[in-house]
Amino acid sequence: MTAFSAAPASGDPHLPRHVAIVMDGNGRWAKKRFMPRVYGHKVGVDTLVNTVNACMARGIEYLTVYAFSSENWKRPQDEVSGLMGLVHVAVARYLRKMAQDGVRVVIVGDRDNVSDRLRAAWAEVESTTRHNTRLTLSVCFNYGGRWDIAQAARRAIADGVTAAQLDEQRLSAYMAMAHAPDPDLLIRTGGELRISNFLLWQAAYAELLFTPCLWPDFNEAELDRALADYARRERRFGGVPAPAPMTTAAH
Ligand code: FPP
Repeated sequence: MTAFSAAPASGDPHLPRHVAIVMDGNGRWAKKRFMPRVYGHKVGVDTLVNTVNACMARGIEYLTVYAFSSENWKRPQDEVSGLMGLVHVAVARYLRKMAQDGVRVVIVGDRDNVSDRLRAAWAEVESTTRHNTRLTLSVCFNYGGRWDIAQAARRAIADGVTAAQLDEQRLSAYMAMAHAPDPDLLIRTGGELRISNFLLWQAAYAELLFTPCLWPDFNEAELDRALADYARRERRFGGVPAPAPMTTAAH
């Protein structure tokens, strides 16, 4: 729960204000083409850029993606370093255009055990785009939902927040996603039916959508299918369905 309301700023209740995506399936996509897994991630970056553009065109204000989890360090060394290298390639290739298009990029995750070079790249991306307002792209990198809850609690305690004061709203302010409303729609590509430690706190009432589409194949048609599915959902946030409007009989 964040300080933001769930109502979309666009005014269209059927359009999610915040979409979150687990971009899964890059490795399998590459393997099907007899290519190294890192090639799948490379194409996945292009898919991400296309998705940012598609979200902007549809009036979605927040897009959050899971790019590297706290657990992804367990992957083979060449894949880990390939993913780190891709960040620098992506920054060199896309940052200027994204900044011009009005995208604000926020990096979400533990920056302590990443390289100085990567930290510097994050700082450049964030400072270059900080005044943009059209779409906020949160890139979760070296991120885990449990890490986020723990770091929020640690920082709150360090600030002197007492046990009695530490309610949901107070803790939300310390979460790494405090700059965004809670996600309305959480999409996972790649066919697995789990959320893998992504936005555990924030996705409490997100509508979940799982698609077998591998991330590099995700495109505007897939996004539109997901949005159409979302538009048909009834969101109750733990309440009951809104009563049907009363019709007044004509006299
Ligand atoms: C999961 O697919 C995907 C990832 C672990 C990485 C996703 C990262 C990107 C698309 C690049 C992001 C880069 C920047 C610069 C933000 P998988 O490897 O688990 O695929 P599999 O399930 O088919 O093995």
